[in-house]
Amino acid sequence: MRKQIAAANWKMNLTLTEGIQLAEDILKNEFDLNKSRAVLMAVPFPYLISIQQLLKGQANIHVCAQNCASTKNGAYTGEVSAEMLNSIGVHYVLIGHSERREYYHEDNALLAAKVNLALANEVVPVFCCGEPLAVREAETQNAFVENQLKESIFHLSADQMKGFIIAYEPIWAIGTGKTASSDQAQELHAHIRSVIAAQYGAEVAESVTILYGGSVKAANAADIFGKPDVDGGLVGGASLIASEFSTIIKSLK
Ligand code: 13P
Repeated sequence: MRKQIAAANWKMNLTLTEGIQLAEDILKNEFDLNKSRAVLMAVPFPYLISIQQLLKGQANIHVCAQNCASTKNGAYTGEVSAEMLNSIGVHYVLIGHSERREYYHEDNALLAAKVNLALANEVVPVFCCGEPLAVREAETQNAFVENQLKESIFHLSADQMKGFIIAYEPIWAIGTGKTASSDQAQELHAHIRSVIAAQYGAEVAESVTILYGGSVKAANAADIFGKPDVDGGLVGGASLIASEFSTIIKSLK
């Protein structure tokens, strides 16, 4: 089975003490993680090393950065490079979250550069895509997301695309309590997979993990993750509550 992933995105929340407490509370649970199931915790940069220490010895639970720079190194005050992440043993990074696209004007070309730098530095990108409300209302979400993929990741080789991780997060469902229905998620995920298949072939498409994000919580995770093309979730608000996120992890296929 392709990898099923429950990914927490803490965004800009929690103090270090609160974050450690949250991670400890989550780890009090027993999870049946194996080769095909994993957990990611995308925490703020200053907490990466502390949370990584705390996760030491936990098989298949990894820290993840929420962003990386689009340039290799140099005079870019405040930026954190993929090489720096690798140098502290962080091997996952969110790229292209809609909040970065919207508030920091990250466009598809810039995100392609970030994807390249992550891969070149042995950091696995979790590439985020998804349409705003106006696009959904115009029913052009398939083409919109397809274009995001084309412009940011379809320059990759088939080898690089094998096992790639994508997170589909419809912007209108993020933090709004308005979840896409599991059928809406499945429909878009199936579209993403078909577009990858057209570009790279069915075998590569079948290997790609596609996470759903947008108001995932304990109460709806099993329904959403149960859909054939949904391979887990990228979770914001509910990942800040230990019991919620623990149930979400247990809802993985
Ligand atoms: P919510 O789960 O709070 O809707 O956030 C989703 C998200 O943006 C995860 O990256």
